[in-house]
Amino acid sequence: AQEPVRVLVTGAAGQIGYALVPMIARGVLLGPNQPVILHMLDIPPAAESLNGVKMELVDAAFPLLKGVVATTDVVEACTGVNIAIMVGGFPRKEGMERKDVMSKNVSIYKAQASALEKHAAANCKVLVVANPANTNALILKEFAPSIPEKNISCLTRLDHNRALGQISERLNVQVSEVKNVIIWGNHSSTQYPDVNHATVKLPSGEEKSVRELVADDEWLNGEFITTVQQRGAAIIKARKLSSALSAASAACDHIRDWVLGTPEGTWVSMGVYSDGSYNVPAGLIYSFPVTCRNGEWSIVQGLSVDEFSRKKLDLTAEELTEEKALAYSCLS
Ligand code: NAI
Repeated sequence: AQEPVRVLVTGAAGQIGYALVPMIARGVLLGPNQPVILHMLDIPPAAESLNGVKMELVDAAFPLLKGVVATTDVVEACTGVNIAIMVGGFPRKEGMERKDVMSKNVSIYKAQASALEKHAAANCKVLVVANPANTNALILKEFAPSIPEKNISCLTRLDHNRALGQISERLNVQVSEVKNVIIWGNHSSTQYPDVNHATVKLPSGEEKSVRELVADDEWLNGEFITTVQQRGAAIIKARKLSSALSAASAACDHIRDWVLGTPEGTWVSMGVYSDGSYNVPAGLIYSFPVTCRNGEWSIVQGLSVDEFSRKKLDLTAEELTEEKALAYSCLS
């Protein structure tokens, strides 16, 4: 039998946590043969609710779930974890300044970075979901210098999946037949959903470009982009709560592809530490197209970037550079 993998979920008493932990316990994250031990962290005001989630996990009698640690102690939560999904954070409340929210999250991610660095298993893979996701991941990276930077990422897979969904609806094709969209940049409304390299597999088996099939550049360069960028707000408007099941599902997709590999000929979007590819400033956590193999991602190289796209890649990079500066100003 395989050794269980320890998976940390922070903010586990929250909305995304509630959707995510049963997916992990069912094998959605690492496949149906991989036992898991869940580590769930939340803060003291949520301790009782966290314990309720633990009770429900027991009640669900998941065969793959070999143990549950539910705690408000960050050291206990981080000890021995192989995968860390960081969902906990300080939400923006009405009337709060951006700087105040940033400051709260910077101190959370600084502290949790140290705990992971000291107590997680060697080669722990980290996915930051909590917003501002890219910048939280950057702070985590800076304060966990012994964790290789290639092990730290943030979630833009939800945006990627939203883009696939929009194309699938527009063309009336199965979403599984659409691939190779790209989310560039920040997980925010400046992100650039790019379909210039995306394709659809037709019933005949032939692959055709999305641009050719949609044959409506005005829609692709306009409404499509804003719909994906604003989808989070549309969900909040409809549900009075932010995306949770789709975020949890995307987090599983992100980790699964990272660990088990992306299918041949397919790439996905991940927020990763920029090495300067595509002239994106190095030293930002920026969403790129990546392929994964043997547990490591690499940025897809050599894709053409037209003038329209270039402007959008730069705009979202500028926002991330500003966020980085704001985060650093909170540290001093
Ligand atoms: P939520 O408010 O329901 O849950 C957050 C949980 O984190 C709460 O239980 C809270 O007590 C906990 N928490 C706060 N500080 C903590 C700390 N220091 N350590 C551990 N836990 C802590 O929020 P929800 O809806 O689950 O969203 C979680 C985060 O994910 C938010 O920041 C949200 O903006 C972000 N998000 C990101 C997406 C992405 O695609 N990257 C998509 C959707 C949401």
